[in-house]
Amino acid sequence: MNPEATKRLEESIQKTLSTHAKNDKSYLWMAYWVIFEREADPDGLEGWLNELKLGLSRATVIKKMFEAHEFQQRLPEEERGSKLMTSFTMPNREMVKEFIPPADDFPVIPLSIDELKEQVASKHWFHQIDLGNGIITHGQDDSAEKLLRIKMPEKLDGRTVLDIGTWNGFFSFEAERRGASRVLATDSYAWHTWDGKSGFDLARRALNSKVQALEIDILDLSPDKIGTFDLVLCLGVLYHMRHPLLSLEKVFSVTGNQLILETTVELFSEDRPAMVFYPGTEFANDPTNWCGANPAAVIAMLKVAGFSKVELVSLVDFPIPQTGRATFHAWR
Ligand SMILES: C[S@@+](CC[C@H](N)C(=O)[O-])C[C@H]1O[C@@H](n2cnc3c(N)ncnc32)[C@H](O)[C@@H]1O
Repeated sequence: MNPEATKRLEESIQKTLSTHAKNDKSYLWMAYWVIFEREADPDGLEGWLNELKLGLSRATVIKKMFEAHEFQQRLPEEERGSKLMTSFTMPNREMVKEFIPPADDFPVIPLSIDELKEQVASKHWFHQIDLGNGIITHGQDDSAEKLLRIKMPEKLDGRTVLDIGTWNGFFSFEAERRGASRVLATDSYAWHTWDGKSGFDLARRALNSKVQALEIDILDLSPDKIGTFDLVLCLGVLYHMRHPLLSLEKVFSVTGNQLILETTVELFSEDRPAMVFYPGTEFANDPTNWCGANPAAVIAMLKVAGFSKVELVSLVDFPIPQTGRATFHAWR
């Protein structure tokens, strides 16, 4: 390959990896697969992460990996273009799933009870998570009450679970406690506001949990990126969607069997599928709320998105007239 072609290849790898990677770690993870055809070793990963932190560009990482002895040895120069582009433009599903760093990737360093209390007290929380030793995170959400309403199966032994919009992770940790073989917790917005993802990380550490985490917008979910899951949780997320039906289509695409969806509902007295649109801060003075569907509309949208069977499993009225919360179970 001439230098010009090598440069084009490096640029193209850099661009595509950046499109898929949600953070530096997953970028490096993928780069290792594509360029060295292997998992990233902890020392190598750590070294590159530090360099990126110190200002090295992602493009330079690829360039340096190309120059590495390991790569030079692995692919003779004349084979690079065709081999790399093939493995790269057609990443298979297993390989794409590898892009999510495994849970064991994060060393669990035990905290003393006093350290944990201090760190819990210093954070903004949404969930109320029981971390043991009498320490419960002080979120505004009545998480235990919501858990009863959503009717999550008591036993999840051997099932894989995806929790979309996990925030501090209460429902992911609960799914793990109920025996799920693998839990992936995802979020976007809340992991950039208040204390970001640090509440989730602290709870995960305190619980010695193996729940995996991936920052991804609901509209970016696809089986190619994350695979499919036996049970998908989408709790308190639908009314935050500007594009509710499109979001449910994305949720359907990663649901292997069952979805549990919990949301705000409105307009109970209307039998026809109907939805209120909140262009501003009409609902709860929160500009991130976009739509309040009635139960008939949620059921209809779930069916249009592809689910074959949908059941309304709980409905509570709140004092504000005509609004409440509802939970739906839906099956592929
Ligand atoms: C009201 S909280 C619900 C948290 C948790 N699922 C629960 O039910 O207790 C809404 C969550 O949806 C997430 N969210 C909002 N927009 C999102 C989007 N476009 N993609 C993924 N998650 C989103 C927020 O970041 C937040 O964590």
